[in-house]
Amino acid sequence: MSQPPPRCLWICQAETCQLRGSAALLAALQASALPDGTAVAASGCLGQCSTGPSARVTPDETWYCRLTLDDITPLIENHLRDGHPLTHRLNPRFHFSFSMPPQPASPPDLPA
Ligand code: FES
Repeated sequence: MSQPPPRCLWICQAETCQLRGSAALLAALQASALPDGTAVAASGCLGQCSTGPSARVTPDETWYCRLTLDDITPLIENHLRDGHPLTHRLNPRFHFSFSMPPQPASPPDLPA
């Protein structure tokens, strides 16, 4: 029986993301203690250049955008250790969500 693929955090190292600090993100992650079974690796362009630095977590297919160095610790602790992705950095092209304004308890009276 084969092993399941390890979880991997892919950090884009293509030009646009590098201009936005992805090399420092990769270095910080490589210097961090990651949970067992988790790896970090450089990737080529993830096709999300306008919202970089971009990252992708496999095999769970979580896509992040506009990552900063401040996101490293919560990314490791909240997502990789505890399974709760950083909602404020999810790439909306892959993780679409919206919220509705509060609705009235009963519909307003309509004019006759
Ligand atoms: S350069 Fe990073 S997603 Fe394209």
